[in-house]
Amino acid sequence: MEKLSRYQPLVDDYALFLEASRQPLPRVIWANPIKRSIDEIEADVLRLCPEARRLTWTANGWRLPASAQPGSWLLHLVGEIYVQEEVSILAADLVGAKPGERVLDMCAAPGGKTVRIAVAMNDRGRLLANEKKHGRLGGLRWNLNRLGITCATVNHDDGLRLSHPSKPFDRILVDAPCTCEGTSRKAHSRSQSISEGERNTVTQVQVGLLRKALDMVKPGGLVIYSTCTYAPEENEGVLDRISTERARIEPIDVPAPLKTASGITQWKSHRYRPDVSSAIRLWPHHNDTGGFFIAKLRRI
Ligand SMILES: C[S@@+](CC[C@H](N)C(=O)[O-])C[C@H]1O[C@@H](n2cnc3c(N)ncnc32)[C@H](O)[C@@H]1O
Repeated sequence: MEKLSRYQPLVDDYALFLEASRQPLPRVIWANPIKRSIDEIEADVLRLCPEARRLTWTANGWRLPASAQPGSWLLHLVGEIYVQEEVSILAADLVGAKPGERVLDMCAAPGGKTVRIAVAMNDRGRLLANEKKHGRLGGLRWNLNRLGITCATVNHDDGLRLSHPSKPFDRILVDAPCTCEGTSRKAHSRSQSISEGERNTVTQVQVGLLRKALDMVKPGGLVIYSTCTYAPEENEGVLDRISTERARIEPIDVPAPLKTASGITQWKSHRYRPDVSSAIRLWPHHNDTGGFFIAKLRRI
């Protein structure tokens, strides 16, 4: 937890933040309507876990106690449910993908957001699920197959080197590789601090991926940038470095009753552009979730 002390100046209630960061995450699942109706799946979920409660902000999602093991249910094996962190569900939903659109998920494995986006598209359109690490492609393919997704194609490439599509994408998700400091509630989260060199390296990649996404989305199209870290260098700092000429950072409509904080405009000696405050920060103690950062950029 010592590594989190760096973020004390950014949090409204540091004691609550630390306390929440120590607790195990509630399990969250959603139903896959491509396989069976949400109502039918819900009935099975409640039979297996009577304590399951619908998420307050979406009709398709349930919170289970941290001790629940939905990953071992047959419903999971046959792809009728997906186990996913609540903040990740939100990020995928904010992509706002619609049936028939062309969507790129630039950093896709293991595919949690890809499958949620595919369901929003009602499995119709073109969804390109790109991933750089070969060893993570198996999990991505397994999830797409298990959920019966047919609109997605898996691509193995460095997002920084993706070639331009013949037709630009309507929407792109850049769920960027990051230092993952918001995942302290997960069982296998990293406990060591991040070195400055490590942070600089990852930041270069994040800037490159976001720049590439803005090249590949159509004018007026949407890029969602997300990370699971609190580090301003990897969040507002990355947005700040992306040219104002090519993107407008737009406010995010946060579904009620989720509580979020605005992107910050000052970190140590850095002052960021005022519009980075349109991004959102999700702190663990606000909604009993993991930590997350989400920004919406519209190509101009
Ligand atoms: C935060 S994870 C993505 C999680 C995924 N979106 C999901 O919801 O299941 C970031 C992913 O980016 C991949 N990655 C790292 N560098 C990349 C690059 N240059 N191009 C594309 N993917 C990259 C990592 O291997 C990792 O799988």
